[in-house]
Amino acid sequence: MNKENIAGIKSRFFEDISNSQTEKSLYDVKVKYVGRNGELTKILKNLKNLPPEERKEIGPLANRARHEIEKAYEERKKELGERIDWEKEKIDVTLPGKKEEIGSLHPATLVYREIEKIFPLMGFEIVEGPELETDWYNFTSLNFPFDHPARDMQDTFWIKSDKKKLVLRTHTSPVQVRYMEKRKPPFRIIVPGRVFRNEATDAAHEHTLHQFEALVVGENINVGHFKYIAKLFFSAFFGKKVDIRLRPSFFPFTEPSFEFDISCTVCAGKGCPSCKNGGWLEIGGAGMVNQNVFVSAGYPRNRYQGFAWGFGIERLAMMKYKIDDIRWFESGDLRFIKQF
Ligand code: PHE
Repeated sequence: MNKENIAGIKSRFFEDISNSQTEKSLYDVKVKYVGRNGELTKILKNLKNLPPEERKEIGPLANRARHEIEKAYEERKKELGERIDWEKEKIDVTLPGKKEEIGSLHPATLVYREIEKIFPLMGFEIVEGPELETDWYNFTSLNFPFDHPARDMQDTFWIKSDKKKLVLRTHTSPVQVRYMEKRKPPFRIIVPGRVFRNEATDAAHEHTLHQFEALVVGENINVGHFKYIAKLFFSAFFGKKVDIRLRPSFFPFTEPSFEFDISCTVCAGKGCPSCKNGGWLEIGGAGMVNQNVFVSAGYPRNRYQGFAWGFGIERLAMMKYKIDDIRWFESGDLRFIKQF
């Protein structure tokens, strides 16, 4: 009785596996015969209840059948694994292609990268500082009087804090003293970074801006060095000859101080709508480092001289890429970013 059963189980098993076309159904077949409650498993479990003679005869048969089944299962599995699934391999060449979305860099990043390429060629080091500053570095060390309007709540984001008076830095100039505390002249640095102002925004004003500061200090640095380096930089940046114009101005941390213009990059100074017919474009502030700032940094008074400037990255990007409204930069609007 059992003998025939085993032969039957084997032949049904072989038929079932040759009909299985997937690894999953193949596995189900295996479970059906040699799983925990499989047909052959039942016979094997029952061996101990058989009379000794029968056990002697059936035992080896059943065990051999189990090995054969397991071996055949492995072979079939390998076969199925190697088989090419033509359904899956089929390619419909008439389907539309998958679109690759390619990102692009923000124009402020592009300008930074350009700047960071040019200045190291002139021996400048790139230095950064924190966006959350103390009153000391942002204002006091830079010679701001206590009643200066930049210290007002209206102009500046003050942070509530139990310890020091903290402020979202209003310019990159605080890095001047931070750097000088650690280094002795001569040196040349640029400081790229984000700055914040409590502004009512319009086409020309934003609350979050990017600047880059330059600071060159040595024993005999003068305004001529500043003009020369500025001219080299802006000519390289715009890819054409650019002239520089300085107008007297005031900053607490420079003396003398300047407003700084470049010749119009559209008309080269002749006058056009871009420069409102003036021939010049306003770029930023600059000046010779005030001796009080050197003293804040721990240098002796009147030992060194240096120049500093602070320019807005957005302004430069607006000129270079002809962007009409500064609010685009922080808008998060992908239609804007994708153009660069
Ligand atoms: N920090 C000044 C500003 O943000 C610019 C400046 C920098 C002026 C360095 C002079 C020297 O307006």
